[in-house]
Amino acid sequence: MKRFGIIGRPLDHSASPQLFQDRFAKAGLKDHRYDRFELKDIAELSELLKTPGLRGLNVTHPFKQQVLEHLEELDATARAVGAVNTITLSEERSIGSNTDVIGFAECLKEIMPELFGPEPGVRALVLGSGGASHAVSHVLRELQVPFNVVSRDRDRGDLSWAMVDRTVVKYSRLIVNCTPVGMGELKGKALPLPFDAITKAHILIDLIYDPAETPFMKEGKAQGAKVCNGKAMLLAQAEASWRLWQELP
Ligand SMILES: NC(=O)c1ccc[n+]([C@@H]2O[C@H](COP(=O)([O-])OP(=O)(O)OC[C@H]3O[C@@H](n4cnc5c(N)ncnc54)[C@H](OP(=O)(O)O)[C@@H]3O)[C@@H](O)[C@H]2O)c1
Repeated sequence: MKRFGIIGRPLDHSASPQLFQDRFAKAGLKDHRYDRFELKDIAELSELLKTPGLRGLNVTHPFKQQVLEHLEELDATARAVGAVNTITLSEERSIGSNTDVIGFAECLKEIMPELFGPEPGVRALVLGSGGASHAVSHVLRELQVPFNVVSRDRDRGDLSWAMVDRTVVKYSRLIVNCTPVGMGELKGKALPLPFDAITKAHILIDLIYDPAETPFMKEGKAQGAKVCNGKAMLLAQAEASWRLWQELP
């Protein structure tokens, strides 16, 4: 049996188990299984890694950064991002990677292809400073798109929420929600942004995929902005994790 799974807490909202189970069923991979492993503490990972047949794990909230010091190796992207969403177990070694980077880049290519040209000419605002924010920031840095990170604690970002006024929003044509505001317990909640400064020239990306439309997206749409949710990113990052696991001997 080749085993895969996802670690995080809570995991009820994760779409990854269904996504991988469907993929295995479609490909007739009867000896593959994908489970939810809800951990109370990241220290429980070392025991989980001893599971017979375990080949790979996805990592989600709140462990994407905490997991770094529990792995034997990090690939170049995971090192640069400082967060891991995919673990590959190869010859008893645990290797951390970050496929959220690939997922977000693919989503951007679809919605804002001009960013991949020689002169992006856009400023961005990245909301939240957790694991996904690190991956999004890495992609923007690579594309040489200037951006600011908004955090509840100024030590973790460039701006506090109180500093995000109409001028900041007006000049940040790309805004990416990397917070959980709008999903789970925070479903229906809007972010404290001056939405009236958003125009039809703005693009709003919410990394949340369930619900498919968040208050952040609704408010943006009402101002004429182009909006998209995290579904395309979810699919692309899962595909990239699967490619890594398929390379295993
Ligand atoms: N579509 C995809 O493929 C994909 C991939 C990864 C993540 N995501 C989604 O992205 C979101 C973040 O995931 P993550 O793994 O980065 O989580 P995380 O590591 O917990 O980071 C979330 C960040 O959001 C901010 N935040 C948390 N609660 C907040 C609140 N009540 N108000 C304002 N800000 C708050 C925090 O930043 P500060 O403490 O600095 O304020 C926190 O670091 C989740 O909704 C997740 O489902 C989607």
